[in-house]
Amino acid sequence: MAARIIDGKEIARRMRQEIGGEVTAFREESGVIPHLAAVLVGDDPASAVYVRNKQRDCEAAGIRSTLHRLSDSTEQAELLELIRRLNADRDVHGILVQLPLPGQIDETTILDAVSPVKDVDAFHPENVGRIVQGRPRFLPCTPHGCQRLLVESGVETAGAHAVVLGRSEIVGKPMALLLIQKGEAANATVTVCHSRTRDLASVTRQADILIAAIGKPEFVTREMVKPGAVVIDVGINRLDDGRLVGDVDFEAVREIAGAITPVPGGVGPMTRAMLLRNTLTAATIQAESRD
Ligand code: GUN
Repeated sequence: MAARIIDGKEIARRMRQEIGGEVTAFREESGVIPHLAAVLVGDDPASAVYVRNKQRDCEAAGIRSTLHRLSDSTEQAELLELIRRLNADRDVHGILVQLPLPGQIDETTILDAVSPVKDVDAFHPENVGRIVQGRPRFLPCTPHGCQRLLVESGVETAGAHAVVLGRSEIVGKPMALLLIQKGEAANATVTVCHSRTRDLASVTRQADILIAAIGKPEFVTREMVKPGAVVIDVGINRLDDGRLVGDVDFEAVREIAGAITPVPGGVGPMTRAMLLRNTLTAATIQAESRD
């Protein structure tokens, strides 16, 4: 039987609406307008589209957004100076530095410089440490979006075997951390696979929930999936013929999976919705600390 398609676009629309309502209530109660500062360095067209979409989402949800555009040749010191200014600006609650950054800039140095209370990507080591310990301040947007997709689709994670394909700092590692936590939408048994995993298909075939985040177009084939499994595809890959595909061979895998996310229209819109959630959280934390 063909898989149920998990409609991330529709679920994200509902979440944005819900968060928009919370933003309205927060603004009325506190008199504070949540404000996200986005930093875009260079001319990568995909990054420019991502940032524009994030800004559009903010505005629709009642969150102020400002864009700081810097040239491709920006020196690290100049970017650090901008981050210091945004950290000190009491009107700015969230800072998002769009990745990747140009080669002359060390990403870790930049991400470490963002104030942990404004770190809406949850990339700062303090925030990652808090996630590891199960007392998060912010949840990382893409893994949190995947987790919400599972909940909204009625997928039971407790006791399930979740296999995460990919060990990136942005998706794979934090995804595994969220799923092994105690609590709602978690309590899974988690395996993390990567490029050095032996007999990968034998591991992925054990997954009740398979999360593909390796950045290789249509890498997950039908033979790698257990019949009835829930497949979450984090990948966004542009093929030479212009088609946008995920890390999963969608047409083949949908024949065998129980449920599957499409690309586009699966995880992507959820990532953006979770950024709104984190920006509201950041504004709330900062308003409370000033009371
Ligand atoms: N580039 C690709 N994904 C992300 C993300 O989640 N956050 C940021 N800041 N940049 C990205």
